Amino acid sequence: MSVPDNHFRRDVIRGLSARQKYLEPKYFYDATGDRLFQQIMESPEYYLTNAELEILQRQSNAILGSCLQYQRRFDIVELGAGDASKSLFLLEQALQRGISNHYYPIDISGNVIGQLEQNIPGKLPGLAVKGFTGEYFHMLDELARYSQGPKLVLFLGATIGNMQPEEALHFCRELHTYLNEGDLLLIGFDLKKDPSVILDAYNDAAGITREFNLNLLRRINRELEGNFDLEKFRHYPVYDPGTGACKSYLISTEAQKVTLCGDTEISFDKDEAIYMEVSQKYDMRQIEQMARKSGFAPVQHFYDREKRFVDTLWTVPSLKTVLGNH
Ligand code: AVI
Repeated sequence: MSVPDNHFRRDVIRGLSARQKYLEPKYFYDATGDRLFQQIMESPEYYLTNAELEILQRQSNAILGSCLQYQRRFDIVELGAGDASKSLFLLEQALQRGISNHYYPIDISGNVIGQLEQNIPGKLPGLAVKGFTGEYFHMLDELARYSQGPKLVLFLGATIGNMQPEEALHFCRELHTYLNEGDLLLIGFDLKKDPSVILDAYNDAAGITREFNLNLLRRINRELEGNFDLEKFRHYPVYDPGTGACKSYLISTEAQKVTLCGDTEISFDKDEAIYMEVSQKYDMRQIEQMARKSGFAPVQHFYDREKRFVDTLWTVPSLKTVLGNH
């Protein structure tokens, strides 16, 4: 058995001992979780990935055109780069147009960064790729040693939706402190829409999202000597069109006790829920408000054809502009 990671153990015990039990979604992504998430993105119900891919495929040039109003050249930084399959369209155009030849992907997974550093130079010769493995803000600190000029930061994939709205605002405020006047941020939000379309995206007919959630219990069993019986938990996603919060729970189908880490016992009532993840949906008014409240100015919104998803471009305004608006 692998040596349990201390943070994983601490966070799991803390979450399962809370009054409202919860698990942190960052722990979904072990090797099986990565594979299941890949399958979710390919499932017919999960529209988010294709919608954003369409934006980058069709509008990368327009996005860069909009950036050029603020900066003639800039480095491109990507938070949570993954396989960069969407950002490649933008990187290619930026390279061809002589706007950028430096790409700095940041990801929590060293594996992901290794792959990007290995694969992208072959696909886009002339683009210098330097990756950073770790937490976003720690890595932005590191990055400052390499990139001092203007920046376009990409934060795609609706990853911001996995934070509660207040947490997302806090995140944007913190990100703002790493940027300078005229720097740019392109950020992907999933939009409010027909509630059943949203709910289906987190409750696919093939049961991949169900497996994705249960896999975290499987991971706890494997890495923390847990004895969860996966048959005794039911995947239960809910969407509240009032708040835009799509939340996933695992429901204990009976009263039961689970042991982990040798001596920690967790009791579940029948029908007790473990809160797994929020995938927050926004409207444009909320998005513009978030931009302004975190110190950015919205520049332009880029939608897919069906307006299911938006990549919104923000800039760091000059102090003069900020003061002029008050
Ligand atoms: C990574 N993140 C944006 C996904 C989402 O849509 O919230 C994670 C996910 N969870 C279940 N399906 C997809």
